[in-house]
Parts: sequence; C-alpha cells; structure tokens
Amino acid sequence: MAAFRIFVLLYTLLAEIGFCYSSEVYIVYMGSKRTVEANEISKQNHMLLASVHDGSSEKARASHVYSYRHGFRGFAARLSKKQALKIAGMSGVVSVFPNEKRMLHTTHSWDFIGVSTNEDMEIPGFSTKNQENVIIGFIDTGIWPESPSFNDHGMPPVPSKWRGICQGKNFANFSCNKKIIGARYYLRGYEAEESNRITKFRSPRDSSGHGSHTASIASGRLVNNMNYNGLGNGAARGGVPMSRIAVYKTCWETGCYDADLLAAFDDAIKDGVDIISVSLGPNSPQGDYFRDSISVGSFHAINHGILVISSAGNVGTRGSATNLAPWMLTVAASSTDRDFSSQIILGSRKKLMGESLNTFRMNASAPTILASQVSNGFFTPYQSSFCLDSSLNKTMARGKVLICYHSGSYSESRIGKSIVVKKVGGIGMILVDETENDVALPFVIPAVTVGKRTGERIQHYVTRTKKARSLILPAKTVIGSRRAPRVAAFSSKGPNLLTPGILKPDITAPGLNILAAWSPVDNKMEFNILSGTSMACPHITALAALIKAVHPSWSPSAIKSALMTTATVLDKTGRFITADPSGRRANAFDYGSGFPDPSRMLHPGLIYDIEATDYKAFLCLTGYSDKYLNLVTGESNRSCSESHQVRSNLNYPAITVPDLNGNYSVTREVTNVGRARSLYRSLVISPKGINVTVVPDVLSFRSYGEKRNFTVNFWAVTPSNDYVFGALSWSSRRIEVSSIPLIVRVASH
Ligand SMILES: *[C@@H]1O[C@H](CO)[C@@H](O)[C@H](O)[C@H]1NC(C)=O
Ligand SMILES: *[C@@H]1O[C@H](CO)[C@@H](O)[C@H](O)[C@H]1NC(C)=O
Ligand SMILES: *[C@@H]1O[C@H](CO)[C@@H](O)[C@H](O)[C@H]1NC(C)=O
Ligand SMILES: *[C@@H]1O[C@H](CO)[C@@H](O)[C@H](O)[C@H]1NC(C)=O
Ligand SMILES: *[C@@H]1O[C@H](CO)[C@@H](O)[C@H](O)[C@H]1NC(C)=O
Ligand SMILES: *[C@@H]1O[C@H](CO)[C@@H](O)[C@H](O)[C@H]1NC(C)=O
Ligand SMILES: *[C@@H]1O[C@H](CO)[C@@H](O)[C@H](O)[C@H]1NC(C)=O
Repeated sequence: MAAFRIFVLLYTLLAEIGFCYSSEVYIVYMGSKRTVEANEISKQNHMLLASVHDGSSEKARASHVYSYRHGFRGFAARLSKKQALKIAGMSGVVSVFPNEKRMLHTTHSWDFIGVSTNEDMEIPGFSTKNQENVIIGFIDTGIWPESPSFNDHGMPPVPSKWRGICQGKNFANFSCNKKIIGARYYLRGYEAEESNRITKFRSPRDSSGHGSHTASIASGRLVNNMNYNGLGNGAARGGVPMSRIAVYKTCWETGCYDADLLAAFDDAIKDGVDIISVSLGPNSPQGDYFRDSISVGSFHAINHGILVISSAGNVGTRGSATNLAPWMLTVAASSTDRDFSSQIILGSRKKLMGESLNTFRMNASAPTILASQVSNGFFTPYQSSFCLDSSLNKTMARGKVLICYHSGSYSESRIGKSIVVKKVGGIGMILVDETENDVALPFVIPAVTVGKRTGERIQHYVTRTKKARSLILPAKTVIGSRRAPRVAAFSSKGPNLLTPGILKPDITAPGLNILAAWSPVDNKMEFNILSGTSMACPHITALAALIKAVHPSWSPSAIKSALMTTATVLDKTGRFITADPSGRRANAFDYGSGFPDPSRMLHPGLIYDIEATDYKAFLCLTGYSDKYLNLVTGESNRSCSESHQVRSNLNYPAITVPDLNGNYSVTREVTNVGRARSLYRSLVISPKGINVTVVPDVLSFRSYGEKRNFTVNFWAVTPSNDYVFGALSWSSRRIEVSSIPLIVRVASH
C-alpha cells in the first residue's frame, strides 16, 4: 500500500489539548450511539461530567452545554484544560476538542444547468412529482419565512415520516408552513464564546440573508419578477421547488461554532431529513476528521442514509479545499453565462468593460486619478493605492474617480474601499482586482471591478493624459458574452491535503453572481446577488434531491456517484472547461469530476456504491486504531485487519494515485442500475506519461443490481514531477457513459 500512502495527522489527544486555546467549551465526542436509549445517554454523560467535578452533580449541570444522543454520542461542556485531559483519557471517549468557529463560504443559474423552467422542474421523461417527499436540512444562518420563495401554495401535507419541530412560534413570531416544515436554532455554543454580543433574532429567523439565499437556490418556489435593483430580472426559483425545507440555524453574527453544529447534525438525523446542505467549513488547512464537527456530524448522517453536501471554500489556491472527508459531496464554484457588466468610457473615448452591480448613474465624466497620487499623512503612495481607511487626502480626492487596487488579501474589503472613497468625497471608483475573480459587487458609489490587463490600460491612459476623465455607466445584465462555465478564481482547489488518495472537490456548480432570496433586515432587499462556493453547494443539493425523488431507495453514495460519473468536463461551447483568471484548461483539482448534467444523472448506467462499513476499512488504512474506530462506528468486534481484507480501496467514483511507484493496481466495483442485459466497454484517456490498463476491459451484466469488479493498473512510462490527469469511461451501445477522473503523481526519488 506504499503508493496509497495517506498523510493524516493523527495527533495524540494529550499533545493536542496541551495547546493553548482561549475557549473553555470542549466537545467530548464518543462515537456511535449503538443501542443505548437517549435518556440513558444523558444520564451517563452527566455522571461522567460529575466525575471530573469532584462528584458534584450541581457543578456538572452548570458546566453542561449540550448532549448529543440521537445520531451519535457525546456532549459539550465548559471544562478546564485539566478536566478535558482527564476526560480524553477515559474509555469510551474518541476525541475531545475545543469549540472552534467555522465560517460561511460566502436565477438564471437553473436555465443554465439545464433543468426546465416550469414549476414542476420536470426532467423530460421522468416524473419528479415525488419531490414533496424529499426533506432537505439546511445548516446555516436560518431563514426568512415570509419570503415569497418559501410560500407553501399548493403543497400537500407534511410527509408523515417527519419528526422535527418548529421553534419560535410562541415567542418569536416565526412560523413554519408546508414548505418550511421544521426550524430549530442553536445558540449555546455561540454564546459561551461571544457572551458580550447581542444577537438580533434569538429564533430560526435569518438576520444575515445567507441562509435564505442558500435555501432558495436549492428549494425556493417560483417567483416572477425577482431582481436586484433591476438587475438579473426574470423568474427565479430553486432546483427542487416542491421539496421541503428543515432549518437548523447554527451561524450567528460572527460565524458558526462546533458545539452548535454538532447539535444541529444530531437533531437533523433524528428529525428524518434526507439530505443536509452545509455551505460553510473549517479554515484551510483542515485538521483531523474526528476533531472537526462537520466531518463528525456528516459521518453519522451518512450512516443514517443521509447525504451531506458541502462547499469547498473560497480561498482559491492549490490545496486549499476543505470539507475533505470522503463521505461528503464537496462542491467547487463556477460561473454561469450571465455577467453583470458595467462600461467605463475614458476621456479618450475608449470603452472598457468591468464587473459591477452598480445601479448609480454618473451624469457626466469626472476627473480621474490614481489613488496613489492622493495619499494622505503618513501613508505611502503604495499603501494608498489600496484605498485603505484614512489613506486618502480629502482635498485632493473630492469630486474625482479614483483608481484603487485590490491585492486579494482577506483583510481587504472591496465594498469597504468604495465606502472609503465616498467618505473622502470621491464620486466614483475603478477597482483593479489582481485576483480577477469576476465577483460583481454592490458598491456604494458608481464603481466597477476590472482585471489586471484592463487595469493596466486605464493606468496607462491616466498617467499619460493631462486631464484624464472617465465615466462609469450603470451595470447591465449580459448573457452569453463569455464561455461558460468557467471555474471561479476564488473556488478552493485540490489536491486533498489530508487524504491525498481521495479527490476533492468532487464536482462544480454555479457559484458566481447568483441571484436568490435574501433577508430584508439587512438592507431592505428581498433578493440579492452573492458569490461563493456557499452558492454552488445548494445547486448540487437540489440535483441530489431530484435524484432522491426519482430513486428513493438509492444510497447517499449512489446519488453522489450518479452526479459525478455523468458530469461533463466540457463547457457549453463543447470545449474543455477553463479556470479563471488565467483561462488555462481546468482539471480535476478545480472541478472534481466536472459540471453536472441533469439530463443524464437520473440514468447513470453504473454506480460506484459505498457502504457505511467500507468507510471503516478506509479509516483503518488511514491509520486509525481499532479501539478508536470501534467507538466511532459502533461495530464492536471487527478489527482493522479483518476489515482490510474486505476491500483495500474505498470504492470512490474517482481514482487518485498520489505516489505512483512502479506498477500499481486499483480495484473498483460497479453496480448495474441501467438495462438488465448490458455490455460496457472501457475507454481510457491516460494521464500524460502513464500507461493505464483496465482488466477486464468489457463488463457484461445480466440483471439490474448486478455487481462487477475491474482493476485499473498504472505504470509510469515517463517521470513527471506533478499530478497528471486522465479519465476512465464505461460506455454501452445505449448512450450511457459513466466516467471517472484518473489523477496520478509519480513518486519522486
Ligand atoms: C410577524 O412578522 C410578520 C412578518 O414580518 C409581520 O408582518 C407581523 O406584523 C409580525 N407580527 C408581530 C406580532 O410581530
Ligand atoms: C445627476 O443629476 C441628477 C438630476 O439632475 C441629480 O439629482 C444627481 O445628484 C446627479 N448625480 C451626480 C452623481 O451628480
Ligand atoms: C492634502 O492635500 C492638500 C492639497 O495638496 C494639502 O494641502 C494637505 O496638506 C494634504 N493633507 C494631508 C493630511 O496630507
Ligand atoms: C466482542 O468480543 C468480546 C470478547 O472478545 C465478547 O465478550 C463480546 O460479546 C463481543 N461483542 C459482540 C457485539 O460481538
Ligand atoms: C508493470 O506493468 C507493465 C504493463 O502491465 C508490464 O509490462 C511490466 O512488466 C510490469 N512491471 C512489473 C515490475 O511488474
Ligand atoms: C502499455 O502497456 C501495454 C500492456 O502491457 C503495452 O502493450 C503497451 O506497449 C504499453 N505502452 C507503453 C507506451 O509502454
Ligand atoms: C469485488 O472485490 C471485492 C474485494 O476483493 C469482493 O469482496 C467482492 O465480492 C467483489 N465483487 C464482485 C462482484 O466480484
């Protein structure tokens, strides 16, 4: 297994807890629930807690924050480091980790993906009427229940399998309906860390807008004339408008805490959701799976037959992808064919384009200068060029259009720069964005973002012209002006730094400039345009729900496999998908298996299925111990060495060989979900310099559900020092092509 070497940082608990954390709330994770009754678990947790509080039942009660007892076992409590250490050493405890904060990964897109526009969202040839039985849990910032996107007009009664509740009805003017069938909120983990903050709505109501936005992308009803200040006008709707929404509000003003996230997963599993959508994640690089609430929660969700879809993150650099666990479906972000463009007319009459959601009208052109020429006080011209607060001289900036720069650093806010320019009396801003991420933004003055090259042309004009002027026009919606989809510049990329043998991200979906419902408290708007892998995630959530509606018995990994093996790596012009900003050809580290194809995902032909027990074998190989895994999986007596023999490779719908050394073979098992009698032939596109053979190269099936194994052999012909990409497809005479990416790096010696 040398080539399948996996780098997991299996810290010893002792060393970890020795670090200095400001947090006093710890999560004690105790693995699978097994058969113990929920009340009994609470009692046992209490006794355990009392044992580190000198046996004091009172102190134990005071320190207790949450008990997790439905989907898995554990609790959150206020502890000293010493107490946490003591608990970590107890039998039955998998891990003890501090309550850390996770961040959100912040209508036209459905026409673009290819799902039909009528309210029923029918895919030709398939009835998707059953979507009213699919319940999607959103772990996010809550929801605005009065939004027209969440009306329940014409919806049948709540499915009888639903066991959730609606909090806030009696004290917070929050009500559910047949669309939003459940709503809960989780504050204790947040308040334990940020006690001096006042939270706006102590209910499932959305005070930020993010949660309403993601829920409506996936599940919103059809709303006509939805727009953002006149931009992007048209009917907008979610991908599965008849599906049900269950809200789990875990994210508050500054972020989402582990203790609250775990409580949400625990309840979602109990309530009976079918799919969980989480548009948030840990910071990159991500730590160990069983010290991360989203990995832990989704591990138990999938063991209960619930698919968890998550966002890859918005860092954009190589290796920055998060939500890396193989049991999640992790989504990258790409563009649609709709841009929000704003024209700049220079005094030389030259016309240039940039991105903006600018709705202001400049009456006439205005003097235009570089922000570096109006530096203030102690700021150098270089520092002022970024238009940071206090860096601009009011006298010199007044009445002008300023050219500012954005370096892409996290601490800089693009909208913030337009506020700075407005404050010093500037009347417009041209923002040269070196990261060129194409995100259209709602600036507070006439303003526009341009890429590096356009920025250079404008700078050239301004520095060589005595009385340089410019005029920024209001933004317009432009459809089809550029090739699409393209992978968004900000979308976090592979390889998977935690488990290099597992491809991440898995798939891509629209996440650039997406119009959807919003929370009107923020800025009185019912709809807003946002960008991020946060917006890409619910697009895949909706497609998964469509598959679930048509194939209710399919496992989470069968649904994931169907989405991945039918995805395409070609854009709408039939050429290879490219990655912004350079326009290079994109690869699996950008988009996983590609961009989804709804017309094919319902009949994938072959499925790469994974059973819950397969994850144990995977974790064994990853280096976890028997004792640890028996607690996590609740399967007491199977040792890793036995699991090993069951399957040496996780049956993932992608093959990644991160350290190819000599010959290396990988086995996969496919299940026939197409026509009973069928014959599939393999077609390999070899990664450059790698010889790939498939044995057998023909798979014949005689019945539905039949399984077949095949082996893929890799052999390095010419050395390469980086990852190379290829694909393996199985096709039958009847259209079905099931394709998986092959990703190989030859070991260096
Ligand atoms: C409850 O909220 C709705 C929607 O915002 C509002 O119309 C209504 O007046 C509110 N009722 C109370 C009692 O606050
Ligand atoms: C443009 O003209 C209108 C009407 O004359 C005026 O109200 C507005 O303030 C002007 N805008 C600017 C940016 O000068
Ligand atoms: C701002 O610029 C004006 C005009 O050039 C100058 O008189 C003033 O001293 C500058 N202020 C600062 C704080 O640099
Ligand atoms: C596990 O093994 C132990 C001893 O080897 C045995 O006592 C116990 O009953 C077994 N448990 C299960 C669930 O098989
Ligand atoms: C590796 O595989 C290739 C092609 O299958 C074969 O020709 C070669 O002999 C193998 N080498 C070893 C060392 O097994
Ligand atoms: C790849 O392997 C096959 C099977 O061993 C062999 O026939 C073929 O020549 C090899 N190709 C290269 C380029 O080595
Ligand atoms: C595929 O291989 C695995 C592991 O060797 C084995 O357990 C399984 O039964 C095989 N499946 C088929 C259909 O042969």
